[in-house]
Amino acid sequence: MTTPRRVTIRDVARKAGVSVATVSRVLGGDYPVLAVTRNKVMRAVRELDYVPNAHARALSAARPGAIAIVVNTIAVPYYALIAQGVEDQAAQEGRLSLICTTGGDNGRELSIVQLLREQRAEAVILVGSVIVDEEYRKRMTEYAHALAAAGSRLVLCGRPPLGEGVPALVVGFDNTGGAHAVTAHLLSAGHRRILYLGVRPGHTTSDTRVAGYRSALAEHGVALDPSLEVEAEFDRDAGYAAMNRRLAEGPPDFTAVFAGNDLVAAGAIQSLHEHGLRVPHDMSIVGYDDVPPAQDLHLTTVHLPHDELGRAAVRLALGRVTTSPMTLGTHIVVRDSVRPLGPR
Ligand code: ADE
Repeated sequence: MTTPRRVTIRDVARKAGVSVATVSRVLGGDYPVLAVTRNKVMRAVRELDYVPNAHARALSAARPGAIAIVVNTIAVPYYALIAQGVEDQAAQEGRLSLICTTGGDNGRELSIVQLLREQRAEAVILVGSVIVDEEYRKRMTEYAHALAAAGSRLVLCGRPPLGEGVPALVVGFDNTGGAHAVTAHLLSAGHRRILYLGVRPGHTTSDTRVAGYRSALAEHGVALDPSLEVEAEFDRDAGYAAMNRRLAEGPPDFTAVFAGNDLVAAGAIQSLHEHGLRVPHDMSIVGYDDVPPAQDLHLTTVHLPHDELGRAAVRLALGRVTTSPMTLGTHIVVRDSVRPLGPR
């Protein structure tokens, strides 16, 4: 049996139809290169599964680079708190951290990742749930190979793994377990008609939370009622609007609400109050994430280890820990938004 020959930079250049110097420029990220040329080179890198040699890796590993965190926005507590964990751990490791926002725009995300590669960021941490489809897989696989070729690490934080052979590290949290536990908390208080407010089909965080809700109902022998699963984006306005729509249909046919996150819960509570319904006396509600409005609203919710997620992402990026995918635990924080059902 013959050992397969190692793919070299010459093979990449031949396949992409460019010079070795051009491949080197693209991978080094230190000269401007036309986007069309860069795409040709990166396609060849992917198709040949090219890994730069140890010397090139050693060059880039020789200096500590910046750790970049890429989020939709920093105006949402979920992202801000994870970013703080990244920043704290990066500082502890003597690294500078960069926070980049995409506004949820895939095109902007792509340009940011390309710029970070050119800036020789030591690691790129992409945070937050996504809709996983073919386009997403293709895009992430491309980032992972492009960053690896430039000696950087890609870490996915709060996102599912990409699959075998893709050079990306993963840290997430037990979304389904938390959703199961908080639904069981409502069921133990006697609630059977529980409205799930925050379905976002295909969205990884929402899907896993809905799965936990459904599994707890099944475990308690409560039949699923699709009319109790209501779509809403993960923000306050969406929670307010969705609850307004539901209450406009008539008196509530549910005694409790599981909001997709605490912001959705905040909007839903405003709507409930405006309809003369008091929490928890007339309606019980729980949230998810345990971000700032939760405490002020006395909201029972699921605590996410935001800080630890950010810190773990940096530790993975720097090779301080090697467990990937890594799943962090969640737990319920009981406050005062659930009333045990019984005589009033
Ligand atoms: N909580 C969990 N995932 C979230 C997201 N993508 N946006 C806002 N809050 C979240």
